[in-house]
Amino acid sequence: MIETLIGSRSFRGALSAPGDKSISHRALIFAALSEGTCRLDNLAPGDDVKRTARCLEAMGVRLVRDGSAAMVRGVGLRGLASPAAVLDCGNSGTTMRLLAGVIAGAGLEAVLDGDESLRGRPMKRILDPLGAMGAAASSANGRAPLRFAGRSEPLGGGTSHDLEMASAQVKSAILLAGLFAKAPTRVREPHPSRDHTERMLSAFGAKLRATGDGWIELEPRGEPLRAPPTLSIPGDPSSAAFLLGAAILADEGEVEVTGVDANPTRIGWLHVLERMGAEIELLPSGEAAGDPVATFRARGGARLVATHVGPEEIPALIDELPLLAAIATQARGRTVLRGAAELRVKESDRLARMAEGLNRLGARVEELPDGLVIDGPTPLRAADVEAAGDHRIAMSLAVAALRAEGETRIHGAEWADVSFPGFFPLLTRLAEAK
Ligand code: S3P
Repeated sequence: MIETLIGSRSFRGALSAPGDKSISHRALIFAALSEGTCRLDNLAPGDDVKRTARCLEAMGVRLVRDGSAAMVRGVGLRGLASPAAVLDCGNSGTTMRLLAGVIAGAGLEAVLDGDESLRGRPMKRILDPLGAMGAAASSANGRAPLRFAGRSEPLGGGTSHDLEMASAQVKSAILLAGLFAKAPTRVREPHPSRDHTERMLSAFGAKLRATGDGWIELEPRGEPLRAPPTLSIPGDPSSAAFLLGAAILADEGEVEVTGVDANPTRIGWLHVLERMGAEIELLPSGEAAGDPVATFRARGGARLVATHVGPEEIPALIDELPLLAAIATQARGRTVLRGAAELRVKESDRLARMAEGLNRLGARVEELPDGLVIDGPTPLRAADVEAAGDHRIAMSLAVAALRAEGETRIHGAEWADVSFPGFFPLLTRLAEAK
């Protein structure tokens, strides 16, 4: 599908963001592994989270959905059944990697597969640690489909995993498998990634602790996980960021997004935008799902300046780096984004796709093996650009397109539905609002 976006000087609105995708996947999985029934409110609306829900149903979990809410009847750590058919994770890396941990831990016989993009993404990073834990997991080339042979003996546990890359998905797969093991599991990352799994598993009664030097230890225990009766999912900061970014780039921009997750491991992009001179603020408004929640406000018209982003900052803005690249095209000076080689193995090669798309729109972007160099400000002009099967590329280029003179055509715009259904009509509405 092609969406046409007309450049606009104005971008205004007050709204709430759709439910957080990372927390929604985890809420569904942890509620399924708990005993008792849990009502989840404000689940993320995109296709990715629906995949997790369907895969859990295929493993015997009863789930009644009602709009953005779902009642999940947990089956406990021993109640999952091997699925009769291949589990189709669609485009969702989080579904595949987190469920791989569950399936490995529960000793189920299962095959996890996905679409062409997901079949191209690296899975050795979970197959190796799960194998070291004793799981019988295999794949032809370190990519999906992933095959798990069932096993009746629980995993031994007692393993330590010092990860090469900061990845919440890998960390979560290991911890989820560790829930079923006989002895403690330890994991450490080079830089801390989003910590929803740690926070939520602890809230569900798992015994997790930091043991110093960045190590997290999960002690399995005989008692079941317990879900709260209701869990309300905060708004997704990664979705909100696109709306705030569009406001920052508009001469007459003013956007307020309420109820957004403000977990520090998710909002590194806000600090980068502040450093660039953007007018953006966070007003704390409470808590949801164990995370701080805030109203985010952004205004346009400020003079932006270039900045440097290094490897230690990347995990807390991993999904917003394409958006930051789009914003940097309007900042004075040379912006350098480094330590982001992981972006090459997301839903698309996000470094290559953003360099290509932004350059088509008239920006000056150069690719590095692990990042981007952006010289600005450059006036942007309309062009035909490609979402390349990637929701975040579709939305980041859309934000740049609003700043461009003329009518930009975004090919493959429907990919936005993976995390933010309704994004394009919303963007057009806010760009036309007076
Ligand atoms: C996610 C972790 C990140 C992120 C993805 C969601 C999660 O992936 O990019 O959108 O929910 O755990 P990696 O773990 O591969 O960095």
